[in-house]
Amino acid sequence: MHLPGPQLTTSHVRAKIVAAQVTNPYTLRFDPDTLAEFLPKAATMQDDAHRKTTHDAEEDTRNRDIQIYVNGTLKHRSEAMVSVYDSGFMLGDGMWEGMRLYNGTWAFFDEHMDRLFDSCKAVSLDIAMTRADIHDALQMTAKANGMTTDAHCRLMVTRGVKVKPFQHPSLSRTGPTVVIIIEHSKPAEKVQAKGIRLATVPQVRGLPMSQDAKYNSHSKLNCVIACLQAEQAGADEALMLDPHGFVNTTNACNFFIVRKGAVWTSTGDYCMNGVTRQKVIDLCRANDIPVFERNFSLVDAYGADEAFLTGTFGAQTPVAEIDGKPIGKNGGHGPVLDRIRTLYKALIADATA
Ligand SMILES: Cc1ncc(COP(=O)(O)O)c(C=O)c1O
Repeated sequence: MHLPGPQLTTSHVRAKIVAAQVTNPYTLRFDPDTLAEFLPKAATMQDDAHRKTTHDAEEDTRNRDIQIYVNGTLKHRSEAMVSVYDSGFMLGDGMWEGMRLYNGTWAFFDEHMDRLFDSCKAVSLDIAMTRADIHDALQMTAKANGMTTDAHCRLMVTRGVKVKPFQHPSLSRTGPTVVIIIEHSKPAEKVQAKGIRLATVPQVRGLPMSQDAKYNSHSKLNCVIACLQAEQAGADEALMLDPHGFVNTTNACNFFIVRKGAVWTSTGDYCMNGVTRQKVIDLCRANDIPVFERNFSLVDAYGADEAFLTGTFGAQTPVAEIDGKPIGKNGGHGPVLDRIRTLYKALIADATA
Protein backbone atom coordinates (compact mmCIF):
# COMPACT_ATOMS: atom_id res chain seq x y z
CA MET A 1 0.00 0.00 0.00
CA HIS A 2 1.29 3.45 -0.86
CA LEU A 3 1.07 6.38 1.44
CA PRO A 4 -1.26 8.77 -0.29
CA GLY A 5 0.14 11.51 -2.43
CA PRO A 6 -1.94 14.56 -3.28
CA GLN A 7 -3.44 12.72 -6.26
CA LEU A 8 -5.26 10.22 -4.01
CA THR A 9 -8.59 11.16 -2.54
CA THR A 10 -9.45 10.62 1.10
CA SER A 11 -11.90 7.87 0.14
CA HIS A 12 -9.16 5.96 -1.76
CA VAL A 13 -6.96 6.16 1.29
CA ARG A 14 -9.78 5.12 3.57
CA ALA A 15 -10.51 2.03 1.46
CA LYS A 16 -6.84 1.02 1.56
CA ILE A 17 -6.69 1.49 5.33
CA VAL A 18 -9.75 -0.70 5.84
CA ALA A 19 -8.18 -3.38 3.59
CA ALA A 20 -4.90 -3.18 5.50
CA GLN A 21 -6.67 -3.51 8.83
CA VAL A 22 -8.32 -6.76 7.75
CA THR A 23 -4.92 -8.38 7.21
CA ASN A 24 -3.10 -6.74 10.10
CA PRO A 25 -2.19 -9.21 12.85
CA TYR A 26 -2.64 -6.66 15.59
CA THR A 27 -5.96 -5.64 17.02
CA LEU A 28 -5.00 -1.97 16.95
CA ARG A 29 -7.57 -0.26 14.76
CA PHE A 30 -7.37 3.39 14.02
CA ASP A 31 -10.52 5.03 12.90
CA PRO A 32 -10.20 4.89 9.08
CA ASP A 33 -11.78 8.32 8.61
CA THR A 34 -9.38 10.01 11.00
CA LEU A 35 -6.35 8.24 9.55
CA ALA A 36 -7.36 8.96 5.96
CA GLU A 37 -7.43 12.66 6.81
CA PHE A 38 -4.16 12.53 8.69
CA LEU A 39 -1.81 10.40 6.55
CA PRO A 40 -1.52 12.68 3.52
CA LYS A 41 -0.56 15.54 5.80
CA ALA A 42 1.87 13.54 7.96
CA ALA A 43 4.61 13.17 5.37
CA THR A 44 4.79 16.89 4.73
CA MET A 45 4.34 18.17 8.28
CA GLN A 46 8.06 18.79 8.72
CA ASP A 47 7.77 21.44 6.02
CA ASP A 48 5.91 23.67 8.43
CA ALA A 49 7.86 26.91 8.21
CA HIS A 50 7.22 27.76 11.86
CA ARG A 51 9.08 24.75 13.21
CA LYS A 52 12.85 24.46 13.50
CA THR A 53 14.54 21.60 15.33
CA THR A 54 17.98 20.03 15.31
CA HIS A 55 16.40 17.05 13.58
CA ASP A 56 14.92 18.91 10.60
CA ALA A 57 15.73 17.07 7.38
CA GLU A 58 15.38 18.15 3.77
CA GLU A 59 11.97 17.06 2.45
CA ASP A 60 12.26 13.68 0.67
CA THR A 61 9.06 12.30 -0.84
CA ARG A 62 10.55 8.79 -0.96
CA ASN A 63 9.85 8.65 2.78
CA ARG A 64 6.14 8.41 2.01
CA ASP A 65 6.65 4.86 0.86
CA ILE A 66 9.23 3.34 3.16
CA GLN A 67 9.18 -0.22 4.46
CA ILE A 68 9.44 -0.58 8.23
CA TYR A 69 10.78 -3.60 10.12
CA VAL A 70 8.40 -4.93 12.75
CA ASN A 71 9.55 -8.10 14.52
CA GLY A 72 11.22 -9.63 11.49
CA THR A 73 8.67 -8.55 8.89
CA LEU A 74 8.77 -5.56 6.57
CA LYS A 75 5.62 -3.48 6.29
CA HIS A 76 4.71 -0.32 4.45
CA ARG A 77 4.75 2.62 6.88
CA SER A 78 0.97 2.89 6.76
CA GLU A 79 0.64 -0.74 7.87
CA ALA A 80 3.52 -0.98 10.34
CA MET A 81 1.89 -1.12 13.76
CA VAL A 82 2.37 -2.42 17.26
CA SER A 83 -0.20 -3.51 19.79
CA VAL A 84 -1.88 -1.03 22.12
CA TYR A 85 -0.76 -3.46 24.83
CA ASP A 86 2.88 -2.93 23.90
CA SER A 87 5.08 -1.97 26.85
CA GLY A 88 6.64 0.82 24.79
CA PHE A 89 3.28 2.37 23.97
CA MET A 90 1.80 1.83 27.41
CA LEU A 91 4.73 2.85 29.63
CA GLY A 92 7.62 4.04 27.50
CA ASP A 93 9.30 0.79 28.62
CA GLY A 94 11.88 0.31 25.88
CA MET A 95 15.23 1.54 24.55
CA TRP A 96 16.22 2.96 21.19
CA GLU A 97 19.21 4.01 19.13
CA GLY A 98 19.52 6.53 16.31
CA MET A 99 22.13 5.53 13.72
CA ARG A 100 23.18 6.78 10.31
CA LEU A 101 24.01 4.93 7.14
CA TYR A 102 26.90 6.26 5.06
CA ASN A 103 28.29 4.49 2.06
CA GLY A 104 26.48 1.24 2.97
CA THR A 105 27.90 1.22 6.52
CA TRP A 106 26.22 2.02 9.84
CA ALA A 107 28.55 4.59 11.39
CA PHE A 108 29.86 3.64 14.85
CA PHE A 109 27.63 0.57 15.01
CA ASP A 110 29.66 -1.00 17.84
CA GLU A 111 29.41 2.08 20.03
CA HIS A 112 25.64 2.25 19.51
CA MET A 113 25.29 -1.45 20.32
CA ASP A 114 27.41 -1.02 23.48
CA ARG A 115 24.99 1.65 24.70
CA LEU A 116 21.87 -0.28 23.71
CA PHE A 117 22.96 -3.61 25.23
CA ASP A 118 24.21 -1.91 28.42
CA SER A 119 20.92 -0.07 28.96
CA CYS A 120 18.81 -3.12 28.17
CA LYS A 121 20.89 -5.20 30.59
CA ALA A 122 20.41 -2.54 33.28
CA VAL A 123 16.62 -2.79 32.96
CA SER A 124 16.55 -6.58 32.41
CA LEU A 125 15.19 -6.22 28.89
CA ASP A 126 16.25 -9.23 26.83
CA ILE A 127 16.65 -8.10 23.21
CA ALA A 128 16.63 -11.76 22.10
CA MET A 129 18.85 -10.81 19.17
CA THR A 130 22.62 -10.70 18.84
CA ARG A 131 24.46 -7.65 17.52
CA ALA A 132 24.87 -9.54 14.26
CA ASP A 133 21.10 -10.22 14.13
CA ILE A 134 20.44 -6.51 14.63
CA HIS A 135 22.92 -5.63 11.91
CA ASP A 136 21.21 -8.09 9.53
CA ALA A 137 17.83 -6.55 10.33
CA LEU A 138 19.17 -3.05 9.66
CA GLN A 139 20.69 -4.15 6.37
CA MET A 140 17.52 -5.95 5.32
CA THR A 141 15.46 -2.84 6.01
CA ALA A 142 17.90 -0.51 4.23
CA LYS A 143 18.01 -2.86 1.23
CA ALA A 144 14.23 -3.07 1.02
CA ASN A 145 14.19 0.73 0.83
CA GLY A 146 17.08 1.02 -1.65
CA MET A 147 19.11 3.01 0.88
CA THR A 148 22.90 3.10 0.95
CA THR A 149 23.75 6.55 2.27
CA ASP A 150 22.18 9.61 3.91
CA ALA A 151 19.69 7.46 5.77
CA HIS A 152 18.81 7.68 9.46
CA CYS A 153 17.40 4.87 11.50
CA ARG A 154 15.53 4.63 14.75
CA LEU A 155 15.96 1.15 16.17
CA MET A 156 13.46 0.52 18.96
CA VAL A 157 13.28 -2.38 21.38
CA THR A 158 10.48 -2.61 23.92
CA ARG A 159 9.62 -5.16 26.59
CA GLY A 160 6.87 -6.40 24.30
CA VAL A 161 3.14 -6.98 24.49
CA LYS A 162 1.50 -7.12 27.90
CA VAL A 163 -1.25 -9.50 28.97
CA LYS A 164 -2.92 -6.78 31.06
CA PRO A 165 -2.81 -2.99 30.84
CA PHE A 166 -0.73 -2.54 33.99
CA GLN A 167 2.83 -1.60 34.83
CA HIS A 168 4.44 -4.76 36.22
CA PRO A 169 7.17 -5.97 33.84
CA SER A 170 6.16 -9.60 34.40
CA LEU A 171 2.98 -8.82 32.45
CA SER A 172 5.10 -8.45 29.28
CA ARG A 173 5.27 -12.04 28.10
CA THR A 174 5.66 -12.14 24.33
CA GLY A 175 9.35 -11.27 24.19
CA PRO A 176 10.54 -7.91 22.91
CA THR A 177 9.02 -5.82 20.16
CA VAL A 178 11.70 -4.71 17.71
CA VAL A 179 10.98 -1.96 15.20
CA ILE A 180 13.35 -0.32 12.72
CA ILE A 181 12.35 2.86 10.94
CA ILE A 182 14.87 4.11 8.39
CA GLU A 183 14.24 7.35 6.53
CA HIS A 184 16.07 9.03 3.68
CA SER A 185 17.60 11.89 5.61
CA LYS A 186 19.79 14.87 4.94
CA PRO A 187 20.02 17.41 7.78
CA ALA A 188 18.34 20.66 6.71
CA GLU A 189 20.84 23.17 5.34
CA LYS A 190 18.99 26.11 6.88
CA VAL A 191 19.40 24.73 10.40
CA GLN A 192 23.10 24.08 9.86
CA ALA A 193 23.56 27.57 8.40
CA LYS A 194 21.39 29.64 10.74
CA GLY A 195 21.88 27.69 13.93
CA ILE A 196 19.51 26.78 16.72
CA ARG A 197 18.01 29.13 19.31
CA LEU A 198 18.07 27.70 22.81
CA ALA A 199 16.22 28.75 25.94
CA THR A 200 17.12 27.61 29.44
CA VAL A 201 14.15 25.91 31.07
CA PRO A 202 12.91 25.01 34.56
CA GLN A 203 13.00 21.28 33.76
CA VAL A 204 16.41 19.90 34.85
CA ARG A 205 18.35 16.73 34.13
CA GLY A 206 17.72 14.30 36.97
CA LEU A 207 20.03 12.46 39.32
CA PRO A 208 21.06 9.01 38.11
CA MET A 209 19.09 7.34 40.90
CA SER A 210 15.81 8.68 39.55
CA GLN A 211 15.79 7.96 35.80
CA ASP A 212 19.40 7.92 34.66
CA ALA A 213 19.83 10.31 31.74
CA LYS A 214 22.04 7.66 30.13
CA TYR A 215 19.01 5.54 29.33
CA ASN A 216 17.96 6.19 25.75
CA SER A 217 14.52 5.11 26.86
CA HIS A 218 11.29 5.34 24.93
CA SER A 219 10.01 7.57 27.67
CA LYS A 220 11.60 10.95 26.99
CA LEU A 221 8.98 12.89 28.92
CA ASN A 222 11.62 14.82 30.86
CA CYS A 223 13.12 16.03 27.56
CA VAL A 224 9.73 16.58 25.94
CA ILE A 225 8.62 18.82 28.83
CA ALA A 226 11.89 20.76 28.54
CA CYS A 227 11.35 21.19 24.81
CA LEU A 228 7.79 22.44 25.36
CA GLN A 229 9.05 24.96 27.88
CA ALA A 230 11.64 26.19 25.37
CA GLU A 231 9.02 26.52 22.64
CA GLN A 232 6.81 28.47 24.99
CA ALA A 233 9.76 30.77 25.62
CA GLY A 234 9.99 31.35 21.85
CA ALA A 235 13.12 29.23 21.26
CA ASP A 236 13.68 26.13 19.13
CA GLU A 237 14.96 23.77 21.79
CA ALA A 238 15.82 23.61 25.48
CA LEU A 239 19.12 24.09 27.26
CA MET A 240 18.88 22.04 30.44
CA LEU A 241 20.79 22.57 33.66
CA ASP A 242 21.90 19.88 36.09
CA PRO A 243 20.56 19.67 39.67
CA HIS A 244 23.34 22.07 40.82
CA GLY A 245 22.56 24.71 38.20
CA PHE A 246 25.49 23.98 35.88
CA VAL A 247 24.85 23.92 32.14
CA ASN A 248 24.32 20.33 31.09
CA THR A 249 22.74 19.40 27.76
CA THR A 250 19.82 20.07 25.48
CA ASN A 251 16.61 18.05 25.34
CA ALA A 252 17.86 16.01 22.36
CA CYS A 253 21.60 16.65 21.88
CA ASN A 254 24.81 17.20 23.83
CA PHE A 255 26.03 20.77 24.27
CA PHE A 256 29.46 22.35 23.76
CA ILE A 257 30.88 25.85 23.98
CA VAL A 258 34.15 27.31 22.70
CA ARG A 259 35.99 29.97 24.73
CA LYS A 260 39.35 31.37 23.66
CA GLY A 261 40.02 28.40 21.38
CA ALA A 262 39.20 25.77 24.03
CA VAL A 263 36.21 23.42 23.83
CA TRP A 264 34.08 22.93 26.96
CA THR A 265 31.33 20.45 27.63
CA SER A 266 29.67 19.23 30.82
CA THR A 267 31.34 16.61 33.01
CA GLY A 268 29.15 13.97 31.39
CA ASP A 269 27.13 13.44 34.55
CA TYR A 270 23.37 13.91 34.06
CA CYS A 271 23.49 13.81 30.24
CA MET A 272 23.23 11.18 27.52
CA ASN A 273 26.54 9.45 26.88
CA GLY A 274 26.33 10.60 23.27
CA VAL A 275 28.35 8.72 20.68
CA THR A 276 28.96 11.97 18.79
CA ARG A 277 29.90 13.76 22.01
CA GLN A 278 32.63 11.21 22.67
CA LYS A 279 33.86 11.33 19.06
CA VAL A 280 34.18 15.13 19.26
CA ILE A 281 36.12 14.91 22.54
CA ASP A 282 38.41 12.23 21.05
CA LEU A 283 38.95 14.28 17.89
CA CYS A 284 39.89 17.36 19.94
CA ARG A 285 42.36 15.32 21.99
CA ALA A 286 43.92 13.76 18.89
CA ASN A 287 44.26 17.12 17.13
CA ASP A 288 45.61 19.35 19.89
CA ILE A 289 42.38 21.25 20.41
CA PRO A 290 42.10 21.90 24.18
CA VAL A 291 38.97 20.19 25.47
CA PHE A 292 37.53 20.15 28.98
CA GLU A 293 34.71 18.11 30.52
CA ARG A 294 33.87 20.45 33.38
CA ASN A 295 31.19 22.29 35.27
CA PHE A 296 30.32 25.69 33.88
CA SER A 297 27.49 28.14 34.30
CA LEU A 298 25.24 30.19 32.06
CA VAL A 299 27.63 33.14 32.40
CA ASP A 300 30.26 31.07 30.57
CA ALA A 301 27.75 29.90 27.98
CA TYR A 302 26.34 33.36 27.18
CA GLY A 303 29.88 34.70 26.80
CA ALA A 304 31.11 31.86 24.56
CA ASP A 305 32.77 32.64 21.21
CA GLU A 306 31.07 29.63 19.60
CA ALA A 307 28.55 27.01 20.71
CA PHE A 308 27.26 23.84 19.13
CA LEU A 309 25.21 20.70 19.69
CA THR A 310 26.24 17.15 18.91
CA GLY A 311 24.12 14.19 17.88
CA THR A 312 24.15 11.37 15.37
CA PHE A 313 21.60 13.09 13.12
CA GLY A 314 23.05 16.59 12.76
CA ALA A 315 26.68 15.80 13.71
CA GLN A 316 27.52 19.32 14.94
CA THR A 317 24.84 22.03 14.83
CA PRO A 318 25.70 25.64 15.68
CA VAL A 319 23.84 27.42 18.47
CA ALA A 320 22.97 30.93 17.34
CA GLU A 321 21.56 32.23 20.62
CA ILE A 322 20.77 31.29 24.19
CA ASP A 323 17.92 33.06 26.01
CA GLY A 324 17.87 35.70 23.28
CA LYS A 325 21.59 36.47 23.66
CA PRO A 326 23.60 35.99 20.47
CA ILE A 327 26.54 33.58 20.72
CA GLY A 328 29.79 35.02 19.39
CA LYS A 329 29.76 37.24 16.35
CA ASN A 330 28.70 34.70 13.76
CA GLY A 331 25.58 32.83 14.92
CA GLY A 332 27.50 30.24 16.93
CA HIS A 333 29.81 29.46 14.00
CA GLY A 334 33.56 29.99 14.19
CA PRO A 335 36.94 28.52 13.36
CA VAL A 336 36.93 25.83 16.07
CA LEU A 337 33.52 24.48 15.08
CA ASP A 338 34.55 24.56 11.41
CA ARG A 339 37.65 22.56 12.22
CA ILE A 340 35.76 20.01 14.31
CA ARG A 341 33.17 19.58 11.55
CA THR A 342 35.90 18.94 9.00
CA LEU A 343 37.61 16.43 11.29
CA TYR A 344 34.30 14.69 12.01
CA LYS A 345 33.43 14.40 8.31
CA ALA A 346 36.83 12.82 7.70
CA LEU A 347 36.26 10.43 10.62
CA ILE A 348 32.89 9.34 9.21
CA ALA A 349 34.42 8.88 5.75
CA ASP A 350 37.18 6.77 7.27
CA ALA A 351 34.82 4.74 9.49
CA THR A 352 32.46 3.97 6.60
CA ALA A 353 34.98 3.54 3.75
C1 LIG B 1 18.95 13.42 25.21
C2 LIG B 1 19.96 13.09 24.16
N1 LIG B 1 21.14 13.72 24.17
C3 LIG B 1 22.08 13.47 23.23
C4 LIG B 1 21.85 12.56 22.21
C5 LIG B 1 22.90 12.37 21.16
O1 LIG B 1 23.50 11.10 21.22
P1 LIG B 1 24.28 10.52 19.98
O2 LIG B 1 25.45 11.42 19.72
O3 LIG B 1 24.69 9.16 20.41
O4 LIG B 1 23.34 10.50 18.82
C6 LIG B 1 20.65 11.86 22.17
C7 LIG B 1 20.40 10.88 21.13
O5 LIG B 1 19.86 9.82 21.31
C8 LIG B 1 19.68 12.14 23.17
O6 LIG B 1 18.49 11.50 23.18
